[in-house]
Order: sequence, then structure tokens, then C-alpha cells
Amino acid sequence: MVDNRAGVVAGGSYESIYVQESPGSRIEIGDLLVVPEDGISILMKVASLRYGFPGEDTRLLLEHKDEPAVAICKPIATISGDGIAPAKIIPGLGREVFFSTVEDLKSLTTAGQKGIYLGNLRSGSKVLDMKIAMDGFDLFTHHVLIAATTGRGKSNLLKTMIWGAMSAGSYGILVLDSHDEYYGRKTMGLKDHGSWGNGNLYFSTKPPPGSSSLVFNLSTIEPDHFFGIMDLTDAQKQAMILYHREHGEKWLEKIVLGSDQEQVDNRTIRVIRRKLRLSLGIYGKGGRIICETNAFSQSAGSSTVSSIVSALESGKVVILDTSRIGDEAELLIGSIIATEAFSRYRDYKGEGILDQKPPISILIEEAPRVLSEERLQEENNVFASIAREGRKFRVGIIAVTQIVSLIPKTILTNLNTKIILGNEMALERRMLLDSCSNDLSSEDAAVASLDRGEAIVSSIFTKFGIPIYTPLFEEFAGGK
Ligand SMILES: Nc1ncnc2c1ncn2[C@@H]1O[C@H](COP(=O)(O)OP(=O)(O)O)[C@@H](O)[C@H]1O
Ligand SMILES: [Mg+2]
Repeated sequence: MVDNRAGVVAGGSYESIYVQESPGSRIEIGDLLVVPEDGISILMKVASLRYGFPGEDTRLLLEHKDEPAVAICKPIATISGDGIAPAKIIPGLGREVFFSTVEDLKSLTTAGQKGIYLGNLRSGSKVLDMKIAMDGFDLFTHHVLIAATTGRGKSNLLKTMIWGAMSAGSYGILVLDSHDEYYGRKTMGLKDHGSWGNGNLYFSTKPPPGSSSLVFNLSTIEPDHFFGIMDLTDAQKQAMILYHREHGEKWLEKIVLGSDQEQVDNRTIRVIRRKLRLSLGIYGKGGRIICETNAFSQSAGSSTVSSIVSALESGKVVILDTSRIGDEAELLIGSIIATEAFSRYRDYKGEGILDQKPPISILIEEAPRVLSEERLQEENNVFASIAREGRKFRVGIIAVTQIVSLIPKTILTNLNTKIILGNEMALERRMLLDSCSNDLSSEDAAVASLDRGEAIVSSIFTKFGIPIYTPLFEEFAGGK
């Protein structure tokens, strides 16, 4: 144990316990430290580092070169024979403090083999030989938020999580993949999972052999699907609803191609038509409908929605390559599928057979596009409904964002597992840490200094914010 020694408890209070470094030890921000006492150990996390104790004159300290630093720590948990509990005590003054080891923390791995692997336990930047996994049912039905600025490893973590979900084989996951990075066309990806061929699906507007065309029949689109994703005036919404009532499945065609007896003010229809062309690339030519991206069609794609939702219902992963169809078309497709999945699962609940169905989770990047304050005002925003009450129906979302502050608090609190990766924006960190179920108030500096792949998992299912490191997907999946 001796070489594992970090320091000595030298004062402070519950919010900030001072640990004076032992000679030769080097404490890092984010380190997990443990103070063994009789029958119980107190686990602390290093929030900050300083010279000397508050009030001490550092000029005097300078006279002793290499004066040990003082780590400011926050007790996060107690570990005893009964397991891990949130810390409600502080360690004894003068006690020796150690860098925690896998041995200390072994009761952390609750989900075991069955769980969804998120990464390895991490103490500061040291990766420990302990896998952190969470129960997939809890994780997916209670919604997940993945927050970080770009390039910090969000997609890498998600690939790792979905790989785990595929291994379990009992979670339906819809990936709206605007960067076409999950399937792994040219690199390693989810297609390389041994069970990929067992009913998991990849749709693309440029499908490689063996995969399907991303094409939706216009008749599968309803006015509701647009609400909550596109800016529409009340008059425009009314017009769409009216056309739908009047023409049923042919309503969009009628709007795009025009009809002899327009029921609505022509100007409104013209604006809608222009919006459809700009956002979805749909327009009429010679009495036919053209879709620039081929993602929507008058004739093809009538069974796309049902085959996707059926795969999800069977616990499969469905990846939609939306990289060539634009933002709004992606959201529209997401909205169509989410509506269908949610509606089926509501029916199953009504019929009393929901518990035979696997959870369905919908991964959406730049989630404020559908979950911002403004979007939530829309009555028929399916993503908002899922965030609010999807849990009861086993439908969840995995919301990915760089800007948490755009998501209202009421929704943030519903996203019950938050995985926080590096973020250099102080205000964003504040907002995020405040919305966590575990007390992460002292983690600001730790989050600011998170490196690529490093994260903190805070959840109603964890006793404290668990620091993890997610390995590079290619190495993990390649078994290296
Ligand atoms: N744990 C890791 N170790 C090494 N490289 C990583 C790790 N996580 C991500 N990367 C690499 O960093 C880059 C950005 O990661 P990515 O997951 O795309 O970030 P984000 O989705 O947050 O923008 C990618 O090239 C990825 O391979
Ligand atoms: Mg990404």
C-alpha cells in the first residue's frame, strides 16, 4: 500500500477536505482518493489543487522548495461491506489517504456482464482495469444525454455503447447518423459486429451492397411530423391539416403539384411549397414529384417505416445515413419513425403486451434542434413527448449536444443519465453540472480538463458521478 500513498487529511470541511501530498506523490485533478477507516472507506475526488492552506503566505512557502501541494477534495461515497453509498461523513483528521485501486472500488460494477459497457473506471487521467457498465434497460428507457464540445469523443462513446447493445441483442436503437460514421462504410463500424447480419439495418441514399435505400413514400408523411421540427406559421399548419383532411395520403402531392380548386389562400400554399423545396428538396415538374435527394418518393418506399419500426421492435439497431439529405429531412424522417414507434408501443401498453417488447431508443445529434424551448412549444413534437413520458412506454432518446443550455431544465431533468465529456465553455458546464442527479458541484475544474475519451457518468442509477475513459472504438471493437 505504501507506494500508493497520496497524502494526509490535513483539514477543511465537507465541501473541501484538504489533503496534503505525501513526499513523492503527485495528486491530479479528478483523482479518486480513498481513506480507509475501521470497516469503512471514504472515497474522495480531487476538485482542485493549491499551494499551502487558505490564509497561509505562499511567500513563506517559497523558502521551502518542493513544499507539498494541497489537494482540495470532495467526499463522494463511502464503501463498506454493504456496498457503496453517497458520502455523508468526512474522513478523520490526520488519516492517511491513498490513490484508489480497483480493489477498493470493486462494488462499483453493478451491471456486470449483462450491462452496456461505457468505458473503464478512471482516476484523473489514470485508466483503471475495471469496466463500468450500466443496465441497458435503465439506461435506454430513462433517456441519455451526451454532452461535450465537438471532437471530445461523443460519437466514439456512442459507437461503443451501441456495440454493447448489439451484443446484448435486446435493445432497439435508431441512429440518425448525419455524418455516416456509425455503420463504417470505409472504416471499422457497427457493421463489423458479429451479429450485424441478424436483422440490424442500414439505410442510405447511396446504399452499399446488402443494405437498403433510404427512401420514404410521400404517403407516409403526415402534417404532425412537420410540427416541432420546422418553422411554420399557424396559417401554414392549418393549411397542411386541411389538405390532409381533404386528400388523405395524397395531401403532400396535392400541395406540391397544386390542385384545381385550392381551398386555402394561394399565397400560404406557395410558401409551404417553397419551404418543402428548400428543406426537403421536393418539388413538382410536369405533373410529377421530384425529390433532389431521393429520400422521398411518390412510388417507392411505402414499407420503409414499417420495416424500420419492426426491426427496432425486435431489438435491432437501425442506422439511417442522413448525411446527404439535409437537416430538416433528417428530422422529418426521425419524427416519422419516432411517431410510429411511440404509437405502436402505446398500443402495446394498452393491450398489456408492452413488457414483451425491448426498449427502443432514438439517437439524435444536435438535440436542441428538437428539444429547444421554442420547439417544445409545439403540441405535436414527438421528441418532446418521448422525453416527457416515453419512459412509461419503453421509448427513450439519446440526446447528443454541444450546447446544453438550449435544452430547457424540465427536459434536462428527464434525461436521467448524463455522460459529460470535455467542455471548455464555463456557462455550459455550470448548466450541465447543476442539472445532474449526483452532486457534481465541485467537478467544474475536472470537467474543464477532461481529455478526449474521458467522461463523467452521472445518473439516477449511480451513487456518484463515475469518472470513465472510453477507449478508441476501433481498438475496443477490434479486441485490442
Ligand atoms: N478515447 C479515444 N482515444 C483516442 N481517440 C479518440 C477517442 N475518442 C475519440 N477519439 C478520436 O477523436 C476524434 C473525435 O472523436 P468523436 O467521437 O468523433 O468526437 P465528437 O463526436 O465528440 O465530435 C475521432 O477521430 C476519434 O477517433
Ligand atoms: Mg460526433
